[in-house]
Amino acid sequence: MTVSFKGKTPSRRAFLKGAAAAGGTLAGAGAAQAAGDPEITELQPWMQQLGDGVDVAPYGKPSEYEAHVQRRTVEWLTADPVSSINFTPLHELDGIITPNGLCFERHHSGTAHIDPAKHRLMINGLVDTPLVFNMADLMRFPRENHVYFLECAANSGMEWRGAQLNGCQFTHGMIHNVMYTGVKLKYLLEEAGVKTNGKWIMPEGADAAAMTRSIPMEKALDDCLVVWKMNGEALRPEQGYPLRLVVPGWEGNMWVKWLRRIEVGDEPWHHREETSKYTDLLADGTARRFTWEMDAKSVITSPSPQAPILHGKGPTVLTGLAWSGRGTIPRVDVTIDGGKTWHEARMSGPSLDKSMHRFYFEFDWDGGELLLQSRAHDSTGYVQPTKDELREYRGTNSIYHNNGIQTWYVNKNGEAENVEVS
Ligand code: MTE
Ligand code: CO
Repeated sequence: MTVSFKGKTPSRRAFLKGAAAAGGTLAGAGAAQAAGDPEITELQPWMQQLGDGVDVAPYGKPSEYEAHVQRRTVEWLTADPVSSINFTPLHELDGIITPNGLCFERHHSGTAHIDPAKHRLMINGLVDTPLVFNMADLMRFPRENHVYFLECAANSGMEWRGAQLNGCQFTHGMIHNVMYTGVKLKYLLEEAGVKTNGKWIMPEGADAAAMTRSIPMEKALDDCLVVWKMNGEALRPEQGYPLRLVVPGWEGNMWVKWLRRIEVGDEPWHHREETSKYTDLLADGTARRFTWEMDAKSVITSPSPQAPILHGKGPTVLTGLAWSGRGTIPRVDVTIDGGKTWHEARMSGPSLDKSMHRFYFEFDWDGGELLLQSRAHDSTGYVQPTKDELREYRGTNSIYHNNGIQTWYVNKNGEAENVEVS
């Protein structure tokens, strides 16, 4: 590489001096002292020996220095790891796509390991011709690619009555956003021929939990997909390999993994996951049911409890994610003073329907205490509520569908903590 500096090729020393000066003009932002920095002046081990050959990792892995970037569970949440959750490390990610190995996992009877050659998808019930597809059959239908978020309805469920878990990984990490490749469910249903009284479908998983949910036919024929790829590669076992249902914008529980059967019926089945679970008990003792759509929501991923400000005062990048099960996110507001003043954040990256959106807000940190919040607006005009506004309407018994505004308190050392300002 040749570096041209003020019209001539500088000596190494002159270039380093120049770099240090440039750092200074960024008001402290790239202020590493170049002069005498051994990381620059001394040969590092990796410069003195040959690196790995191309075939050392036929299926590549992240750098060993990224070993701390992990899905993590909260042990006291559930009784057993086979019916449990781990969380996406949102604070470590950027952009909008979740890497496959970091997508949170939620399963009710562990991960099934299915031989794709032995996998079948049956469509039966109120259809003209019951059908059974193998994987090769499915791949002969026209394919589509879509980026969608999947959020568990229980995401942020532990935060209903007040701030509890310390980190956006745990408060908001039951979400992932990947590009799916698969076939429209509509084509498969058309192939079987839905009878006129076929108004609902019931997808069923091939795992030991045999997960089932009732989904109205309009949604099934609208944008549901039966998929086998995520981010270009085969689904990971924990995400339902070899086949999963995608139900865009709707609660994660309906996205049946290890999909083996779809029954067509004339009414909902009222199974466990739509009666005892995934319903919301209101203050008056009645329960909301069939609350499928995920409301607009956002979270600041950095600074946050697991991503403190380490660089001291001066230029600071605030970033986060926003999403809505009803469309796109044209706007996110952020505040650094607990809601006294709001600023419109800068959206960056693709704005796709029912996909995560990335926002940034650059500010000059004066070294004082901060109360950080973000507020999403979706393309229907809906604005993310405060937790108090949510509780006013929903009471305090809920677990699912908590899309209230999250607050992080940042102290003078840059350390952040989960608090509630409503
Ligand atoms: N499908 C089957 N077959 N078994 C399951 O336990 N869990 C559901 C859903 N589909 C589940 C399932 C729940 S509650 C959620 S939130 C999502 O899958 C989680 O998807 P993920 O593991 O890809 O994050
Ligand atoms: Co779930």
